[in-house]
Amino acid sequence: MRVLGIESSCDETGIAIYDDHQGLLSHQLYSQVKVHADYGGVVPELASRDHVRKTLPLIKQAMKDANCEKDDIDAIAYTAGPGLVGALLVGSAIGRSLAYAWNKPAVAVHHMEGHLLAPMLEENKPEFPFVALLVSGGHTMLVKVANVGEYEILGESIDDAAGEAFDKTAKLLGLDYPGGPLLAKMAEQGNAGIYQFPRPMTDRPGLDFSFSGLKTAAANTIRNNIDNTTQSCSPQVKADIAHAFQHAVIDTLAIKCKRALKQTGLKRLVVAGGVSANKYLRSQLASMMTGLGGEVFYPKAEFCTDNGAMIAYAGMQRFKAGQVVPLSVKAQPRWSIEDLPSIKDN
Ligand code: KG4
Ligand code: ZN
Repeated sequence: MRVLGIESSCDETGIAIYDDHQGLLSHQLYSQVKVHADYGGVVPELASRDHVRKTLPLIKQAMKDANCEKDDIDAIAYTAGPGLVGALLVGSAIGRSLAYAWNKPAVAVHHMEGHLLAPMLEENKPEFPFVALLVSGGHTMLVKVANVGEYEILGESIDDAAGEAFDKTAKLLGLDYPGGPLLAKMAEQGNAGIYQFPRPMTDRPGLDFSFSGLKTAAANTIRNNIDNTTQSCSPQVKADIAHAFQHAVIDTLAIKCKRALKQTGLKRLVVAGGVSANKYLRSQLASMMTGLGGEVFYPKAEFCTDNGAMIAYAGMQRFKAGQVVPLSVKAQPRWSIEDLPSIKDN
């Protein structure tokens, strides 16, 4: 069986075709980064318009790459939420209409379930149950995963998501949007121990996160180190701040992962979402998991950030469980992952 997946929840148009025996047959990704760069963040209206322009040509290309005709496709899956409503509506309307025109079932996919299941596209995939750390631009959460659709949120961010904190701090350091990966690169030039930022909410029990204070700590440190002649911080000071910030965010994530594993008694950790591409996060979690005698799983780098492959894969699981949607087009900008049904419910 083959599922065509469409991702359009934010600033990436992702299309993929997944075969349940052969795996991923093709995938296409178009990033809108340049469209939004001048504005320092995603402009929702521009995002929607660009998805309109790109979705159908990318579907055609993905079909061609996979050597597929419409009758080789068994279902069409699209991201129905959470995300930007206009952007979601583009993928949902195109996906639902194409399914109608081709007389195929349609599947509405939860974007975070897509991220959570992305490591399943790898050869070395985790077995259920596991703890998942989902760290993207819009979400930071720890989830206990018993099976597909059996999710318990153990903790989440009460303010900024980890990726959002990276992006906002990067902006303060004069980096372009999206600044997360650029800040991580800058941190490589920074020295350890020059600045000390807190590890928020680690001094009390619980698995929630709060990252907005770290952004403020970085803003204050930048202000206190402005050189009067240049009216800005030196490149070395910026790199030292980036280093301290990255360590504070990643150490906090690692501390909470360890706590979640202890609380659930599980030994497998899955990390997904844009921030899971961060090298320091990966090295910290690798040594932590070795110490705990457990294992950590990631999607491959290109599937850490938004992509169509994870939507086609999650769509396949839902399609096989018979969880298809009626003819109406529904986008859900807010949608808790806990509200998803188990695949055993049908
Ligand atoms: O999952 P994603 O592509 O989109 C959302 O669903 O939000 O995640 C994008 C986020 C951005 O905030 C970006 O700055 C961050 O992931 N990111 C990183 C790195 N690569 C991407 N943050 C820190 N280090 C990185 N290497
Ligand atoms: Zn995402």
